[in-house]
Amino acid sequence: MRAAAFLDKGGVGKTTATAHFGVALHNDGFDVLMIDLAGKQNDLAKHFGLLDEIEASEQKPNIAHVFDDSWDYIVENVPDVVDQLTFETDEGPDLIPAHKGLDQVDDELASRPVEDRDKMFDDFLTSHVESQEYDVILIDLPGLTNNITLNGLQAARKVIAPVELGEFEEQQLKALHEDLEEFNAALDETIEVSMVIPNRVQSNTNLGKQLLEELREDYAETVAPVHIPQSQDIRNAQKSGKTTFALEEPSNTATRAREAYQVNANELVDRINE
Ligand SMILES: Nc1ncnc2c1ncn2[C@@H]1O[C@H](COP(=O)(O)OP(=O)(O)OP(=O)(O)O)[C@@H](O)[C@H]1O
Ligand SMILES: [Mg+2]
Repeated sequence: MRAAAFLDKGGVGKTTATAHFGVALHNDGFDVLMIDLAGKQNDLAKHFGLLDEIEASEQKPNIAHVFDDSWDYIVENVPDVVDQLTFETDEGPDLIPAHKGLDQVDDELASRPVEDRDKMFDDFLTSHVESQEYDVILIDLPGLTNNITLNGLQAARKVIAPVELGEFEEQQLKALHEDLEEFNAALDETIEVSMVIPNRVQSNTNLGKQLLEELREDYAETVAPVHIPQSQDIRNAQKSGKTTFALEEPSNTATRAREAYQVNANELVDRINE
């Protein structure tokens, strides 16, 4: 099962969703691999407190190599290449972190022939990662549409889209669906939104409640069963290198957030298996 966290907008909760879905699915007994294609900030690694360990191993092959000309040589000469790309988190799922080299990848991809430009990551998963027998692969994407994003979407075919309710989420979701229609037509693909996740919801306010109701009406089929509340503890946990699942004394909102992610993760598996 593959899924990618994506919305063409920064800071909506894509990385948080990837991390929390990863741990939730691990808790359900799945072997989970998370892959960070979201760029040099390496946010997913930070979310699991792995940045120092990763930076200390700079000589290894990294995820950016998958997209460049050195990849064939690496594969021939490094038999356990996926093991070398992969790090273990303390919370269960494995992680292939981002790398600063990803910043150049977009331009490099743009100069490749159209036939293989968008398929390099899909090929990597199929040829090298599938044999590792993970049950679930979660891909964290940039908050913008570039050639890396297209690679991630094409490989996953299922999108989880966190949104912040407010003035703009309607436009953002409309744009997402229109973009996917366009990619599908151009790539002859079936990339679809599996779950829209209302994030940072303030359901204790009338406005929050109303916005949530409207979203449920407009996206009845794809909206997640449970919204994610606004929770300072999510941010605090992230800053200390963990998800809310690893908090020993979670606040009420953090407890609700992790319960919501757990329910939504189970629902995502059902939807994708359908
Ligand atoms: N429900 C929430 N309540 C409070 N803070 C949250 C919530 N969800 C996410 N955050 C915080 O908001 C910030 C942005 O979240 P996140 O990094 O997941 O967004 P993103 O979509 O991955 O951003 P980018 O586009 O930059 O990659 C983070 O500091 C995160 O801890
Ligand atoms: Mg992110």
